[in-house]
Amino acid sequence: MSCPKLRVNAFPASAGRDPSTKKDTLVAQTLGIIVNGASGRMGYRQHLVRSILAIRDQGGVLLSDGSRVQIEPILVGRSHAKLKELADKHGIAHYTTDLDAALADDRWQIYADFLVTSARVGALKKAIAAGKAIYTEKPTAETFDEALELAALAAAAGVKNGVVHDKLYLPGLQKLKRLIDSGFFGRILSVRGEFGYWVFEGDWQPAQRPSWNYRAEDGGGIIVDMFPHWNYVLENLFGRVESVYAQAATHIPVRVGEDGSAYPATAEDAAYAVFQLEGGIVAQLNSSWTVRVNRDELVEFQVDGTHGSAVVGLFSCKIQPRNATPKPVWNPDLAEEHDYAQDWLEVPTNDVFENGFKTQWEDFIRHVVEDAPNEFDLLAGARGVQLAEQGLLSSATGRRIDLPLVTLPGSTPTPAPDAAAPAASAAVSS
Ligand SMILES: NC(=O)c1ccc[n+]([C@@H]2O[C@H](COP(=O)([O-])OP(=O)(O)OC[C@H]3O[C@@H](n4cnc5c(N)ncnc54)[C@H](O)[C@@H]3O)[C@@H](O)[C@H]2O)c1
Repeated sequence: MSCPKLRVNAFPASAGRDPSTKKDTLVAQTLGIIVNGASGRMGYRQHLVRSILAIRDQGGVLLSDGSRVQIEPILVGRSHAKLKELADKHGIAHYTTDLDAALADDRWQIYADFLVTSARVGALKKAIAAGKAIYTEKPTAETFDEALELAALAAAAGVKNGVVHDKLYLPGLQKLKRLIDSGFFGRILSVRGEFGYWVFEGDWQPAQRPSWNYRAEDGGGIIVDMFPHWNYVLENLFGRVESVYAQAATHIPVRVGEDGSAYPATAEDAAYAVFQLEGGIVAQLNSSWTVRVNRDELVEFQVDGTHGSAVVGLFSCKIQPRNATPKPVWNPDLAEEHDYAQDWLEVPTNDVFENGFKTQWEDFIRHVVEDAPNEFDLLAGARGVQLAEQGLLSSATGRRIDLPLVTLPGSTPTPAPDAAAPAASAAVSS
């Protein structure tokens, strides 16, 4: 589907038809971005400071024709005082508590959403109706039906859209992708992942995550938070997720919130899950805010294949090819003398890796301005929400749940390479 021409804004810019591609493109000097939720943990640090302002400071995004597009943010939020403080601190000229006014203003062409998950769908619908390009944090919605509706609305309106897939941009996962693409593993058999750390209960030490994360009624829970990540990591590196079995647990039933008062934790703080992937790969991922770290990094994946194995984290990547695999023999009577850690070889960092959120922002801006490819859209976001929803259902029912292919209502399903899964459009059945 071709996207409508982006409207010319009050910044120096021009829009028109690219004579070489015959596509409607924006030949812009400055692209206006509505940043909603800029005061939040993710909105402020990763998106505003490390991405949008960093891109503005470097003079914008380089396009394929060698020109650059600059960006200019307008901060949107509920507290005028907080917005003013942020704007003053970072030299941002525009801020408002009036989202509708920002959406009605042609100077702002991208709507970016970093709100709490429960506030997202309503804001995204307004932004789609206003014809803005959409960029949003995950999960895109609290339910799969809503997530799919957003993807369908964006497609019908012809607005470009992108969803944060930050983990794929991590140096460790980029190195892993290179190993996969080079055929290092032979046939991949399994993936084991550990994500997590101890999130303080909030009584004797303040919690390092917002309290809504622990309340289901406010969009919290580690499954809704992490399974959208696991979905795009698994489908982009290994293959489509065909089924899920998950066991959720609320290990800490009472926590203390930002205001110092105790509240019941109604959402799970840990999830133990098995995912079957296309091609017969089994992925087993633990996600927990109630585990103490005995790993090199806060997330770590081990991938085992017939020809080699790898252990990757956010940054590091160690490999063990089959020719260097030791031959352990089980003997409980002898203390272990072999140092298994020594059998692994560190993959060097041969590339310069920038902040992943920033790199994905640059990709998305190129998608908006010059139609560069973007697979990380609201439909991909809906697949992530589907996995979370079905993971919760699996935990509630004790069943393994098959995941139908996700397609836009009315569209023809694209068959997965070796999957015979039924297509789901508006609703998921299990
Ligand atoms: N990509 C990642 O790695 C990652 C990591 C953490 C969180 N997230 C996602 O980012 C989003 C924000 O999470 P966070 O940890 O930054 O949360 P946060 O609580 O720190 O920030 C939430 C923001 O939403 C605003 N807000 C809260 N309630 C609102 C309401 N009712 N209406 C309008 N605005 C409201 C807050 O003022 C704040 O700006 C969530 O959807 C979360 O799932 C993504």
